[in-house]
Amino acid sequence: MDRFYFPAWINKLVPLIGLGVALGGGYAGALLYYAGNPRTTDVGYAPSQPVPFSHAIHAGKLKMDCRYCHTSVEKAAFAAIPATKTCVNCHSGQAADGSTKYTAIHSLSPKLEPVRTSFSSGKSVPWVKVHDLPDYAYFNHSAHVTRGVSCVSCHGRIDKMEVVRQQEPLSMGWCLECHRAPEKHLRPPEFVTKLDWVAPEDPVVYGAKLRKEYNINPSTDCSTCHR
Ligand code: HEC
Ligand code: HEC
Ligand code: HEC
Ligand code: HEC
Ligand code: HEC
Repeated sequence: MDRFYFPAWINKLVPLIGLGVALGGGYAGALLYYAGNPRTTDVGYAPSQPVPFSHAIHAGKLKMDCRYCHTSVEKAAFAAIPATKTCVNCHSGQAADGSTKYTAIHSLSPKLEPVRTSFSSGKSVPWVKVHDLPDYAYFNHSAHVTRGVSCVSCHGRIDKMEVVRQQEPLSMGWCLECHRAPEKHLRPPEFVTKLDWVAPEDPVVYGAKLRKEYNINPSTDCSTCHR
């Protein structure tokens, strides 16, 4: 029986294939380098908003829970920006239907003009997005929040910010750093929105216990975040 041979001209291609693999590896390496490099990210980005909404007042001073406004954060991939009627619960004395179920806090403030306009027109306030991953990267809020990773690990002390600014690079290297060693970022899930929470003992030791108890194993497979 004849054995199958590649034709002899294939031999000439071998070095070329080797070169291609080397270049391809370099190319992927360069992409990985740039993906993980903080210079390609937007730390500190803090666009001004159509309404000077302050988290320092609402989440800090008034101690409103994040989930009062970001209602989907535990259930969905995204953390919804609140609809105007959420603001109007407190900021309007004069509902369109004349009812008085609304509280009148600063109801005539000029700062709230875009909120009043939005409420009467039905068009949402044009909030400017602060955090924005490229579309090829998949992120999911509920997968983190329900496992005990707090907002503070990724967004910083929002409850002290007059204007929201991006605190962390949101780069691939940053995601992976925590996926490889999540311990110091873990807490019991009921405290995820309590940004000033402190661990009862060394955070890494405490986190390691939680990790075991809840069986937390963040994946580093490419397909987890690139699907
Ligand atoms: C009274 C409602 C309200 C509460 C309570 C609230 N937020 Fe917000 N949040 C908003 C609004 C409105 C925006 C959009 C305007 C802005 O960026 O300031 C926003 C924006 C954000 C953003 C930026 C979104 C983007 O575009 O990337 C983050 C992050 C955020 N909030 C986190 C939190 C956290 C964490 C808490 C709890 C500590 C919280 N918020 C509590 C209303 C609220
Ligand atoms: C649970 C009630 C409540 C909700 C809901 C609420 N606020 Fe407020 N807001 C307040 C209170 C109370 C103050 C005044 C705090 C102070 O003066 O220290 C305030 C103050 C403000 C101010 C400052 C007004 C001025 O003239 O100084 C703005 C702007 C504002 N809120 C915007 C919003 C927006 C936008 C939303 C919806 C995303 C919202 N608020 C939702 C209670 C609320
Ligand atoms: C593990 C990191 C991480 C945690 C924990 C986290 N976020 Fe985010 N958040 C992000 C990233 C990344 C984005 C940008 C998502 C995108 O562009 O697809 C984001 C975006 C947002 C936005 C803008 C709307 C959206 O979904 O794109 C809001 C509002 C927000 N986060 C609020 C919160 C609140 C409130 C908590 C805590 C209950 C929280 N986040 C916890 C990483 C996190
Ligand atoms: C501060 C720590 C931390 C950071 C930062 C972080 N993650 Fe996670 N991630 C976790 C933990 C913990 C889990 C839950 C693992 C489990 O349930 O076993 C998780 C789970 C996930 C899941 C769900 C995986 C699944 O199997 O469904 C995705 C997707 C994900 N992370 C993407 C990201 C992306 C993208 C980023 C960066 C933008 C990021 N994560 C940043 C800690 C983190
Ligand atoms: C935990 C989530 C996560 C995992 C796991 C992950 N990535 Fe990423 N990756 C990201 C995020 C987030 C970005 C976007 C970073 C940015 O915006 O700077 C990214 C960006 C990239 C880019 C950058 C493209 C560019 O334009 O710079 C490449 C290439 C890439 N990832 C490949 C991979 C490969 C290959 C793997 C598996 C070895 C992998 N990723 C695993 C989250 C992840």
